[in-house]
Amino acid sequence: CVRNRVLDKYPDYSYRDLRRALARFYRCREENVLPTAGAGEAVNLTLIAVRPRTVVVLEPSYGEYEDVSHVLGIEYRSVFYRRDGSRFYLDLSHLDEACLDEDTLIIVTNPNNPLGIYIDKNLLIPYLSRCRARVLVDEAYIELCSRCSIEVGHDLPKNIIFVRSLTKWLSLPGIRLGFLYTEDDELYRKIDIVRQPWNVNSLAECLALGLVEYENEFKRFIEYSRRYIENEKKRVSRKLIDMGLTVFESDTNFILVEVGGGDRISRDLRKKGIAVRSCTSFKGLGPSFIRMAIRQAKENDELLDILSKEIALG
Ligand SMILES: Cc1ncc(COP(=O)(O)O)c(C=O)c1O
Repeated sequence: CVRNRVLDKYPDYSYRDLRRALARFYRCREENVLPTAGAGEAVNLTLIAVRPRTVVVLEPSYGEYEDVSHVLGIEYRSVFYRRDGSRFYLDLSHLDEACLDEDTLIIVTNPNNPLGIYIDKNLLIPYLSRCRARVLVDEAYIELCSRCSIEVGHDLPKNIIFVRSLTKWLSLPGIRLGFLYTEDDELYRKIDIVRQPWNVNSLAECLALGLVEYENEFKRFIEYSRRYIENEKKRVSRKLIDMGLTVFESDTNFILVEVGGGDRISRDLRKKGIAVRSCTSFKGLGPSFIRMAIRQAKENDELLDILSKEIALG
C-alpha cells in the first residue's frame, strides 16, 4: 500500500470498496456498514448521533463510554456483572428497566473487557431485540474468542448497533480501523453525517481491501490465533492457579486475575518492561485485580516468573 503511494491521495469519499470488502468478509450488508477509525470512533459517533437521555452500561467495562457520556451531558448508569466465587455472571433481567426505555442506549461489551466473558448471541440478541431502548454491542474482541462467530450477519434487529475492531485481531492498533453496523437506515444516515469526512485513512483503507483478495488467509490467521490463545491461556491460567491466585475464565485474549495488590504489581512489572492492566479504574473491580494479555509463550513465562517473585515478597 505504501509502495503504491496510497498516502498521496485522499481515501474514497464514500468508502464504497471498503464497505464492500468489510461486508463480504463479515457477511453483512454493505449499505449498512460504516467504516470508522477503530471501534473507539464507532462508539463515540453512536453516542453523538443517538444522544440518548441515559446510557446504561454492563460493568465492569471500557471506561470511554462513561467519559464521552459525561462530556455529552448524558446520564450514565451501570448494571453490574455479579461475582460468585471464582466466576462473574450476568442476569439479563437486570437490564429489564433500561430495556423498556426508548430514550436509553444500553451498551454491552461482548466479549466483556476486562472480564473476558462472552454472552452467547443466541441468548443476548433475542432479549435485546425486544427492547424499546437502542443497544450498542461492542464486539471489539470477538475475533479472538474461539466460540464466537466472525460473521456480523444480516436481517438483524434495527435497535442494535454492532461495533467491530480490526485493530485487535490484526494486532495493529496504530492502523485505526473498525466499523459499525446498523440496519436502522435513519440512524445510519445520522452517524454518517456526524463522522468526519475521510475518517478512515487511506493506508487502513488499502489494507482492508486485502480482506477480499486474501479472505481465506485472514480467516486462517484468525483460526490460528484463536487456537494459540486457547492453549496458551490454559497453560498460563494453570500456572497462576498453582501460585494460589484466583483466575477468572475468559473467552478472549486476556485474563482477569485477583492478585491482591494489583496497583503495586502492575507498577513493579512496568518497571521491568511488562505491561499488565491494573483494574483500579474499572467499576465493580478495584485494586486487587489485574488484566493480563496472552502474548508469546516466552513473554508470558517472563511475566509469570516476575509475578511469582512479587507474590513471594507479599
Ligand atoms: C471494549 C473496547 N471497545 C473499543 C476499543 C477501542 O478499540 P479500537 O482500537 O478499535 O479503537 C477498546 C480498546 O481497548 C475496547 O477495549
